[in-house]
Amino acid sequence: MASFCFSMTSNLMICFSLLVLVSIGSANANLSKDYYYSSCPKLFETVKCEVQSAISKETRMGASLLRLFFHDCFVNGCDGSILLDDTSSFTGEKTANPNKNSARGFEVIDKIKSAVEKVCPGAVSCADILTITARDSVEILGGPTWDVKLGRRDARTASKSAANNDIPAPTSSLNQLISRFNALGLSTKDLVALSGGHTIGQARCTTFRAHIYNDSNIDTSFARTRQSGCPKTSGSGDNNLAPLDLATPTSFDNHYFKNLVDSKGLLHSDQQLFNGGSTDSIVHEYSLYPSSFSSDFVTAMIKMGDISPLTGSNGEIRKQCRSVN
Ligand code: HEM
Ligand SMILES: *[C@@H]1O[C@H](CO)[C@@H](O)[C@H](O)[C@H]1NC(C)=O
Ligand SMILES: *[C@@H]1O[C@H](CO)[C@@H](O)[C@H](O)[C@H]1NC(C)=O
Repeated sequence: MASFCFSMTSNLMICFSLLVLVSIGSANANLSKDYYYSSCPKLFETVKCEVQSAISKETRMGASLLRLFFHDCFVNGCDGSILLDDTSSFTGEKTANPNKNSARGFEVIDKIKSAVEKVCPGAVSCADILTITARDSVEILGGPTWDVKLGRRDARTASKSAANNDIPAPTSSLNQLISRFNALGLSTKDLVALSGGHTIGQARCTTFRAHIYNDSNIDTSFARTRQSGCPKTSGSGDNNLAPLDLATPTSFDNHYFKNLVDSKGLLHSDQQLFNGGSTDSIVHEYSLYPSSFSSDFVTAMIKMGDISPLTGSNGEIRKQCRSVN
């Protein structure tokens, strides 16, 4: 299927923006929604068109792009560090455990960056492109939309060890999840709302094997279903995929939370959010009220996007997202 990214979306865009003009308080005075108003007026339509085209080719890509933003922001802030390739003299974050054989969508980011460079050369950071891309992915898959704050600059460094330490593992307990998020200024409610990102996308057998074979807080028939695609012994089946949301894996909705209430979370860490602890009530609320989830998700995404941005003369505007200038 051919796809063309021109400004044919402008009528649509006007409708959307009328619906969603929410005023957003700015926790970080250096980020603003109008940051590229004059330096790159076509930015939003350019990014959206490329994201739409990537998701039309492969629905899962929307999930992969959302996750890239999360993995970028959790490691020394939203600074595009995850996008840097390893070289003989530089070790980046792509080979850290949470990303290795798992983080995907880098080619799509490259494509978006070159489309943006064509309309406004040298103006827009890769960190901001990731931010817009995550927002557009959620919207295109049926979730809420919102105004993103922009003005981040790109890191000249990356940290494999910070990626290993700061991105939570699927084996995490509730307390570990809460403290990881709290360390970055995100509340327990933000943790639960952001975990709703698992309403889309896939996980590899190796990340959920222990939960489906060894945990007792899992629906028996669901565990059996997942076991059929994920052999007990590690090895050849490690990369077999299963949807994080068994009900509607390509729609951004509140089904993830209904699954948790039914003990059908795929990851150990997912089910920790509804396991008799302090977050049960939030999960229960989101499972009943999709609009409550949507609005808390938006709030939390904006907060996550505020984590330690590089501004002013810090960092740079990368020419290519995979390497420093
Ligand atoms: C709360 C702690 C979290 C843990 C422990 C966690 C862990 C994981 C794991 C293990 C996978 C599967 C990776 C693989 O098998 O390759 C995954 C996938 C995913 N995660 Fe998370 N995650 C967390 C939070 C988040 C957040 C906050 C978001 C976004 C808001 C997010 C979005 C996603 C998405 C969309 C996927 C599917 C990606 C794809 O299909 O390519 N996760 N996560
Ligand atoms: C389940 O737990 C046992 C005992 O701790 C361990 O030996 C085994 O490797 C675990 N199995 C899986 C699939 O994680
Ligand atoms: C904005 O950026 C400048 C220059 O980098 C910095 O000194 C200042 O603290 C930043 N302000 C906020 C609110 O982050």
